[in-house]
Amino acid sequence: MQAQQMETGLDQKVEKIIAAYREKPGALIPVLHEIQNELGHLPMWVQQRVSNAMNIPLSEVNSIISFYALFSEKPKGKYVIGVCKGTACYVRGADKIVEQLQELLGIEAGDTTPDGMFTIEVVRCLGACGLGPVITVNDTVYTRMKPDKTKKVITDLIEKTGKGG
Ligand code: FES
Repeated sequence: MQAQQMETGLDQKVEKIIAAYREKPGALIPVLHEIQNELGHLPMWVQQRVSNAMNIPLSEVNSIISFYALFSEKPKGKYVIGVCKGTACYVRGADKIVEQLQELLGIEAGDTTPDGMFTIEVVRCLGACGLGPVITVNDTVYTRMKPDKTKKVITDLIEKTGKGG
């Protein structure tokens, strides 16, 4: 089965990363970081593998993943849209931007579209408070966002991906 072959490949990558850190104390975060870079997220089977191999309780592995925003248990989309909901962006209407994105993409903040193209994330202050509301799409920063400007960014991306509508 194709899925099993893929799982085996991923499995080997995970084993290799764990093996590289096995003897090093305090290696949990670097291990999780490397695995996420490789796989894009940290599903439960990975958490179990790390827990067993590093002799760290699964609950501890899971709480580290939940605590750090850079870790994700779910796969993310090709385009990760971060909406700042820091105080300055919030008072300038970040909520409206989140609503607009949810409506345009048909998903809730924190989720990914079923086609794997878009993820909406709410993020903390991005350090550009005077230019808020601020959103990011992967590494690109967009400032002074309004719902219509947001719509343009998303429709341009949808066109770019050839998905139409
Ligand atoms: S509050 Fe949004 S960039 Fe600082």
